[in-house]
Amino acid sequence: MEPTKDIFILAIESSCDETAAAVVRNGRYVLSNVISSQIALHTIYGGVVPEIASRKHIENIDGVILEALKQAHITWKDITAIAVTYGPGLVGALLVGLAEAKALAFAIGKPLIGVHHIEGHICANYIQNTTFEPPYVALVVSGGHTHLVYVCDYGKYEILGKTRDDAVGEAYDKVARAIGMGYPGGPKIDAAAQKGNPAAISFPRVFLEENSYDFSFSGLKSAVLNYINKANMTGESIVAEDVAASFQAAAIEVLVEKTMKAVKQKKVQKVALAGGVASNSVLRQMMKQECEKRGYSLSIPDPVLCTDNAAMIGCAAYYEYQKGIRDGLDLNANPSLKLGER
Ligand code: KG4
Ligand code: ZN
Repeated sequence: MEPTKDIFILAIESSCDETAAAVVRNGRYVLSNVISSQIALHTIYGGVVPEIASRKHIENIDGVILEALKQAHITWKDITAIAVTYGPGLVGALLVGLAEAKALAFAIGKPLIGVHHIEGHICANYIQNTTFEPPYVALVVSGGHTHLVYVCDYGKYEILGKTRDDAVGEAYDKVARAIGMGYPGGPKIDAAAQKGNPAAISFPRVFLEENSYDFSFSGLKSAVLNYINKANMTGESIVAEDVAASFQAAAIEVLVEKTMKAVKQKKVQKVALAGGVASNSVLRQMMKQECEKRGYSLSIPDPVLCTDNAAMIGCAAYYEYQKGIRDGLDLNANPSLKLGER
């Protein structure tokens, strides 16, 4: 019998402000994971400027891909398929990665596989823990998304709830800007909160209806902004560390409580964290504590696999490849692609 051939996927991710390429073997083994971050460029504007992101992706993408191949010690002929994020995200940014992926797939005569960005975030757990498998409940928390998802099988998702307004990462970024911490706010709030008192200010915990798994963070964000504005108007000084810690405590309490409720309802005993906000130290710690209390197992990717990267896209594409999913060269970017949709 012929030995099973290894599958090498070259993956490309350019949905927001990171130009990334990776080579992944058999879905779970990362041979290279190159990320060119544009954060420094966007910081002066206080957030991602879509036009600048697209232009920078064009400038960086060739170099990032060649570096990914070089670090993986692999050549074009070894590549089995090309994977690329085709949504959701900034349309101009997505189009750069997609055009590149199509051109490469055509040039080397290998299949093209389009990947959903959130599916990629979830799959980061399969790289982190090579024995981790469905079913489980995933909490996906990023700058653009807050989803509670039941992953019944590879590529099969039931969305239990999602945010009705701001994503949690967006709330972090806006609160950080109001305190004067700059962009991206998540890591800055995380660091400041470590020196603050989470019980200093009582910000609202928004749970919505009794049985809802949806989230809402705009009320919490407004409460923090009102607190800061009021202090400014009355000339009182604020303790930024306390504001950061109290905001974070309110957001994380809701995220963890809803996740625990979902795991209980789905009777899976297994939880996975995903997305940029999953690199938050308090969220990681609280989720771990609550899972241990209940005897649930928990998977959390390393911070570099939580924020945008292409290795997670290569992993997601592997499971699509195994199912026979291939995309044509007419694949288009879809900025509002829904999870589980094709
Ligand atoms: O997943 P990601 O890299 O991009 C999106 O798909 O949105 O997530 C970026 C988000 C930003 O809002 C950033 O502030 C947040 O993740 N973030 C954090 C931390 N590190 C990144 N939020 C809280 N704590 C952190 N340590
Ligand atoms: Zn992301």
